[in-house]
Amino acid sequence: MHLAMKKVSMILLMSLTSLLATAQIRISTSGIEMILNAVPGEELRIMYFGNRLSDTDFLNISAAGVPDHNAYPPYGFNCPSEAALAVTHSDGNMSTVLTVMSVDQTEESNAQVTRIRLKDTIYPFYVTVCYRAYKDVDMIETWTEIENLEKKHVTLTRFDSGYLPVRVGNVWVSHLYGTWANEGRLLQEPLERGMNVIKNKDGVRNSHTDHAEVMFSLDGKPQENAGRVIGAAFCYSGNYELRIDTRDTDYHQFFAGINPDNSAYILESKEVFKTPELALTYSDEGLSGASRNFHRWGRKYKLAHGDKMRKILLNSWEGVYFNINEPGMDQMMADISYMGGELFVMDDGWFGGKYPRLTDNCALGDWKVDKNKLPDGISWLVDRADSHGISFGIWIEPEMTNTVSELYEKHPDWVIKAPGRDALTGRGGTQLVLDMANPEVQDYVFSIVDDLMTENPEIDYIKWDANMSIINHGSQYLPSDRQSHMYIEYHRGFASVCDRIREKYPDLTIQACASGGGRANWGILPWFDEFWISDNTDALQRIHMQWGTSYFFPAIAMASHISAVPNHTVFRTTSLKYRIDVAMSGRLGMEIQPRNMTEDERELCRRAISEYKEIRPVVQFGDIYRLVSPYDGHNMASMMYVSEEKSEAVFYWWKLETFYDDHLPRVKMAGLDPERHYRIRELNRIDNKPLPYEGLSFSGRFLMENGLEIPLKHMVDYHKQDDWSSRILYLVAD
Ligand code: GLA
Repeated sequence: MHLAMKKVSMILLMSLTSLLATAQIRISTSGIEMILNAVPGEELRIMYFGNRLSDTDFLNISAAGVPDHNAYPPYGFNCPSEAALAVTHSDGNMSTVLTVMSVDQTEESNAQVTRIRLKDTIYPFYVTVCYRAYKDVDMIETWTEIENLEKKHVTLTRFDSGYLPVRVGNVWVSHLYGTWANEGRLLQEPLERGMNVIKNKDGVRNSHTDHAEVMFSLDGKPQENAGRVIGAAFCYSGNYELRIDTRDTDYHQFFAGINPDNSAYILESKEVFKTPELALTYSDEGLSGASRNFHRWGRKYKLAHGDKMRKILLNSWEGVYFNINEPGMDQMMADISYMGGELFVMDDGWFGGKYPRLTDNCALGDWKVDKNKLPDGISWLVDRADSHGISFGIWIEPEMTNTVSELYEKHPDWVIKAPGRDALTGRGGTQLVLDMANPEVQDYVFSIVDDLMTENPEIDYIKWDANMSIINHGSQYLPSDRQSHMYIEYHRGFASVCDRIREKYPDLTIQACASGGGRANWGILPWFDEFWISDNTDALQRIHMQWGTSYFFPAIAMASHISAVPNHTVFRTTSLKYRIDVAMSGRLGMEIQPRNMTEDERELCRRAISEYKEIRPVVQFGDIYRLVSPYDGHNMASMMYVSEEKSEAVFYWWKLETFYDDHLPRVKMAGLDPERHYRIRELNRIDNKPLPYEGLSFSGRFLMENGLEIPLKHMVDYHKQDDWSSRILYLVAD
């Protein structure tokens, strides 16, 4: 080719490349990024999600091979596959075609927000696909804003928050399943052909069964501390659906959004429907690496008071159930104060007027003190707590009522029920869900907290429970042609009440409980400080549940309590040391009648609380490294937390069952600084003799390459021996 011509074609090629590059948008955190292709007038395409690219890789990425999928695929035109959005337009047309109109990138103090406005090619129907990329945590949130500027309403029959293609290979998905008293169980499976649907339709709570979070291990069987992982958490308190579709293409297709089942949404002209956020992360440090990203993002940007250390508490439930009275509460407060705790929470059973709450079949909604049980009211309890040097907290279940209650007698129209049918009831044979879509109900639910706090501003903590699902489809507030909005409006009403509470009571600690772990999700946590992992407090089963839950949620949010034996759910008897060592891996508390404990047991708890105070910053703000999974059949489990500066670490080791002639693996630690030396100290020691390495130092390198031998049993006096064995080691850099 002639030299001049060659030059011209080079220039042409260069300007073509830069044209292409300018349509390529980078959505980046400091470590990860998503690349989109947003050519005006064309579909928005997704090209890449992973570690940050070099500038050269960014320019050449499309030549390397990219998914080049529609970043938010709508239904109805060239649509043999799954869609993220399905719309019936005002004239009945069920097809939607969205092309790029504009791209807008703005800076927030800690994040960059990218908004890509799409328009239907023939209708004034718009979708803005939004991304928030944090600067200091590796998390990208995505959501959409669906706007109808047609003259009449349109109907949304699917409205996902986000879509992500994942390259086919040996991809495994890790996700959580369960039920009441067995929440957060880990399931890991290879992605095969077909559709994998993870969903919830409870209506009120959404994490007893499947969880709204997943991790994809891209390099074969999931590993905790190696391999590439994509993590996704759908941040919503209501019904959801995550779909992974694997068909005849090179990509698994992952969709996440509000569950559209029985929830068709009529979008009025000029109305905007904002979908909840889907949080996406990527790590090349295995599943634990992705967990660390979720935990850091959660503590910094999502969880209420994610930067404040949590108090050690005693909750009255498993200690006294409904048998609440003044001397009993005072005694429990004195006991937890003696053991070094900082907060007492009075659970269910304190309220009711005409129908005193003696058991679970009445009085929800009648939030006034039962004067027979507590003649001097809440203020007396608050004063007593103060004189014991601790804070006071209280249980409520604000979204619910019972057919046997003054509230229901006054407002039968406030409950969720199908028109013309008697309502099916829940707990106690009488429980009903209030219709949070109704603004009067919202005001009332707000007033429950507001009245308590106005009368007793010293209340430090609220346990907010929710013990029933929506099992009657019907809002008595919404008109008959908007009944399909019931689930969505319930959660909008709930969100609006939570916003009002947080605006007026920003410092209050609030626990999300829902028959145990029914509300462990990132949709709730911006208003809540923590959640109750499960009504099952059996230490052995908790190891499994807490392991799974830790995939997506940090220890600071995971309420983990020492309870009595035989356990009230599974009737297993574990040693107190074992129960303590499990509870100390989360936000430590107690759920027991201290009066029934021996002096030795109280002493062990007192020591454990004092030692927990030493490690609390590492547990609650440290980085998690899971080491040996209780699901892997090694008859043991082990994990650790390491402080951000790698100057301290806490190592946990739990044997799962005792078999004679058992040979457990020696656990290699992780996350330490290989160059530093760490002095070892065992916490909660019950053995007559210290471990051989007590007080000695080892390099991080040695501990990560070899670990330390852990004796299989405790060397205690013969009559004190049992079949439980666990260790907590506190490592401090010299
Ligand atoms: C639910 C909660 C428990 C306890 C009881 C009280 O089951 O999960 O922790 O508060 O309600 O009735």
